[in-house]
This record gives sequence, C-alpha cells and structure tokens, in this order.
Amino acid sequence: MKVATLCVLVAALTRGALGVLSPPERSYKILILLPVSTRSHRIVFMTIAEALADRGHKVVMLINQPKSSTHPNIHEVAHGLPHRQHEKFNMFDMRKSSGGSTNALVRTLPPMARDMYQVPEVKELYERRKEFDVVMVDALFNEAAYPFVHELPFILVSTSGIAKSDVLGNVLNPAYTPSFMFDFPSPMSAWHRFLNTLSSIVMSVYWRHWAIVPLIQKEISAQFPELPPLLDLERNMSLALLNSHFTISKSVPLLPSQVEVGAMHCRPANPLPQELESWITGAGAEGVIYFSLGSVARGNSMPVQYRNLFLQAFRRLPQRVIWKYEGELEDVPDNVMISKWLPQQDILAHDNVKVFITHGGLLSLQESIYHVTPLLALPIFGDQPKNGRFVRDSGLGHFLVWEELTEDLIVNALTDIISDPKYKENVMKMSAGLRDQLISPKELAVFWTEYVIRHRGAPQLRSPAAQLSWVEFLMLDVLLLLHLALLVLYFTLRRVLRAISAKIFGSGGSKKKKD
Ligand SMILES: *[C@@H]1O[C@H](CO)[C@@H](O)[C@H](O)[C@H]1NC(C)=O
Repeated sequence: MKVATLCVLVAALTRGALGVLSPPERSYKILILLPVSTRSHRIVFMTIAEALADRGHKVVMLINQPKSSTHPNIHEVAHGLPHRQHEKFNMFDMRKSSGGSTNALVRTLPPMARDMYQVPEVKELYERRKEFDVVMVDALFNEAAYPFVHELPFILVSTSGIAKSDVLGNVLNPAYTPSFMFDFPSPMSAWHRFLNTLSSIVMSVYWRHWAIVPLIQKEISAQFPELPPLLDLERNMSLALLNSHFTISKSVPLLPSQVEVGAMHCRPANPLPQELESWITGAGAEGVIYFSLGSVARGNSMPVQYRNLFLQAFRRLPQRVIWKYEGELEDVPDNVMISKWLPQQDILAHDNVKVFITHGGLLSLQESIYHVTPLLALPIFGDQPKNGRFVRDSGLGHFLVWEELTEDLIVNALTDIISDPKYKENVMKMSAGLRDQLISPKELAVFWTEYVIRHRGAPQLRSPAAQLSWVEFLMLDVLLLLHLALLVLYFTLRRVLRAISAKIFGSGGSKKKKD
C-alpha cells in the first residue's frame, strides 16, 4: 500500500520534471518577430523562445535590442535601426503630455516600416520566410512585420494582456470589459460605460484607420505593391497568446484561439549574489523595501524633487531599501543600497523583502503576485494607472499619484503595508490562485504553438464571427428586417381591424363598394 503510493508519487514527480507534453514529432522552424519592442516585451518573448528551443525546435528572432541568448537553438537577428530606442524617451516627460507618446509613435513607426526591409539581414530573412513552420509576432506596435506572415500560419503574442480580441471575432462587451486605459469600478455606472465604450471605439479607429496603421501601410505598399492590406493579413492569425490570467485581472469570455499564458516568465527563485543576500538578511526583523521603476523608466530620468522626497522618506524608515537606479546619487542614507541592475524575481522571492515600490508595469505586477510581495504602485503612464488601481482595489497594497507625493504619504503608505498583515494575506491568496493551473503557462504556450503547426494554421480554431462585417456582426440588417416586418404586421392588422369594425358597425364605406 505504502509502496504503491510511493510509486504513484514518484511517477507524478518524474512526469512533472519532464513536463507533461509528449515529445514533438520533429524539430520545427519558428520565426519570432519583435522588431519594435521594449526590454519587458523581450522578457516575455525570451520565455517562449527558450521553452520552444528546449523542445528541440530551431528559433530565429528578429529583434531591435542587442542579442542576449546563448541557447544553441536560438538565432537572433538584430536589425540595428535607431528608431524607437527607448533609452531616449523620458517617461516622466511623456506623463506631462498625454499626446507625447502617440507623437513619438507617429514619428518612429512609419520610418521603421520604410527602413526595416532595406537592412540586408532582414531582407534575407524575409526572402526565406517560407522555410518556417510558424511566425510569432509581438501584438503591440509591430504591424510593419506583417509582410512576413503572408501565406504562413501566424500567432500573435500580446505582452500587455488581452489585445486585438475583435480581430479574432471576439468583440468584448464594453459594459463590463475594461478598455486598455481605463479600469472603472465595477459594475460600471452608465457614465463609465459610456466613456469605456467611447474610448474603446476611438482608440481602435485612431490606431487602425486614422493615425498609425495607414502611415505604416503607405510605406509597406510602396515596397510590396502585391501584398494584401496589413489589417487583412492580421485577420488571418491562427492564435493569440495573451500575457494575462483571470486570477490577476478580470475574468472575460475568450475564444479557443485566445490562450491566457499570463506570468509565464515567472519562475522559482535562484540564490542571490552573496552581497545582496547578506544585505537583505542583515536588515533583521524590520525587513527590506525593494524599489524599481522597471526597464523603461530609468532612475536618472526621475525629476529631482521626487528623488529627494524618496531619500528623505527612506531616512525616516527603520527598513533597509534596495533601489534600482541608473546614475550617481548623493546623500544616500546608510539604509539605502543603490544598484543599476538587480535580479528582481530573486529579490521579490526573498522572505525578508516586505514591499515592492513599482511603476506598476504588468510584468512587475505579475512577479510581485507570483512571489507574494505586497506593492506600493506609483504608475507613470500607459496601462500602469489601471494596474495601480488593481493593486489598491484588490488589497495588494497602496496606489499613489506622483503629483500628490509627499514624504509623509510615502512613509505612511510603506509603514501601513509592512505592519498590516492583510496585504500579504491578499497577495498570498491571489498567488495561490495564479499558481493553481493544470499545466504551467509556459507549457501551455508551447502546446498551442505546436498545435497550430501540427494542424497547419488550425483553421478549426477560427470563430465565424471574424468573417463578418460590422453590419452583419451588429445584426443591423436583421434588425432592419425585423422593423420592416413589424411595420408590415402593424399596417396589415390595422387594415383587417378596420375592415372588421366596418362590417360590425356598418359604416358607409363598405356598403358603397358593394353597390
Ligand atoms: C492564412 O493562414 C493560413 C494558415 O494559417 C495560410 O495557409 C494562408 O496562406 C494564409 N493566408 C494569407 C492571405 O496569408
């Protein structure tokens, strides 16, 4: 009996160690395109690329960042174009002008579409694209890469959660689905539903039909006159892998072709470098605060008044602070350690790290939940305010606004998060939900990628809704027909009733006819 139990346990453990997927039928060739991306997008993509490469597939990646993988099955092609180098953008400046980030996109994405296919390495890759079994494309800002997917099965990978759902035929109802920017309290009021609906429509029309895609289309058409329109190519996607999970956002209806692989880059902790480990354990029972604004908002772009507020606030706290900061800092208190690069997941996983001060980027949020660390969110732009409100509303910590920041607010928020156990408990509950999955999100991503290849684009996944026009989808023609039918019915009934009443009450009209 005991031996049998042991055997089952060992079998389960070995299966877990080897992964639950059966070995692939052969080594596939996979092309991954993220010619426009940030470092955080790359983290998500490297997770997929390495998981596929570990299965024996050959992965080629078109990237804009320096090469970083040492995996023998991953070959990186850097296009080396200077457009959209994020180091040049100051996120705090962008916060001041809401149009700033869109202007930057209008300035940089069309030139990228113009220049990319002139780079010899990209041209060569484009010419041999038919060798690949599947193409994977970054869902955000990468329409210029769609010529690659023509007549090939392709998968969209959305690092920012649910995106381009309507392209697959799943128009999410704005009565309860938050748009990219807003996250109104639910259930939404009539006014909020109005704003949410309007913003979803305006943003989609602005991007796809007005400001951005038409400009990219012009550059692409000049080089590939025979190619179908970019938005038609996009509609042919087989699958979308979404960096979201219903346990850490809102639960919404998804198609079989929309697979949630949120937090797939999260992994168990590795041991910390000796110096960091002893700094963290040396903080004693008071614990450690970890402070990082992610890879795009660099520390030295932070306006000096905020920098000073933090330094003064940290001076008043009994905790130690680890601050990811690029550049030199003067007057750093003894309890603060500054570093350019830090192993974030391993720090968050440490028991003595009590709170994470974050810009609220999606990957940071996921890592904090996965590794059970409460948060103080200070969103800068994009979807970060939405993530910040999620932190507050789910009781995972606090949410502060840069413009309202004071020393007291920082100290009080941090002290509350550290001293009240409810925050840690809430994160722990959410973390348990996130980790409780049939197979890991990474394996799920691998399974569905191979599935699309095995079934040559897997047309069985497609929703018939994707083929409909707006008139058909909203059933405007059917509604019109229904109205007409009602009108006909109404007039017919009126006639009949009139005729009957004439018969009964004997009005002159019918008699005259008889005569
Ligand atoms: C659409 O995708 C299928 C496979 O997924 C592919 O065979 C076909 O050529 C694609 N069509 C276009 C126009 O790219």
